[in-house]
Amino acid sequence: EQDPRIEGIASSIRVVPNFPKPGIMFQDITTLLLDPKAFKNTVDLFVERYTGKDITVVAGIEARGFIFGPPIALAIGAKFIPLRKPRKLPGEVISEEYVLEYGTDCLQMHIGAVQPGDRALIVDDLIATGGTLCAAIKLLERAGAEVVECACVIELPELKGRERLNGKPLYVLVESW
Ligand code: PRP
Repeated sequence: EQDPRIEGIASSIRVVPNFPKPGIMFQDITTLLLDPKAFKNTVDLFVERYTGKDITVVAGIEARGFIFGPPIALAIGAKFIPLRKPRKLPGEVISEEYVLEYGTDCLQMHIGAVQPGDRALIVDDLIATGGTLCAAIKLLERAGAEVVECACVIELPELKGRERLNGKPLYVLVESW
């Protein structure tokens, strides 16, 4: 039984063919943000799922995890930490590289943002190949946190990114085929 709010969320996401390059169907959540009801329902669904689960840290992945993560963190009373692309954070960092279609990218986290024993929720807008979330899980675990779950608005199930998360649970609101 799907929550009745999911349909409105799914229909508020714009799919842009051939962006940023030919063959890619880009899942554009900026149209979801223009629909206050869909945006609120998105945050509410996550907040309802994670309230009372003793989550102490919400980690958001640059860039669109910075949109959905903070309202969830505030509502459940957890700290928020940004996982950033290289050379953006001013303090001492730990880094995880991950493989892209061409080349590699990297996520960084401030040392000290996470304490051993923290219970983490990782938030992003979308999982495709799962490489980004896999790197995020490694960062949190290296810092001593327990990754309770990963949460995304959208999953592209055909890319099987879920299988790259080393058994960590993934919760998504919308599947796009
Ligand atoms: C997109 C998306 C995820 C990632 C998912 O970000 O927001 O973070 O790709 O892909 P994966 O599951 O194959 O790793 P993008 O790389 O476009 O970076 P941006 O948010 O900084 O634009």
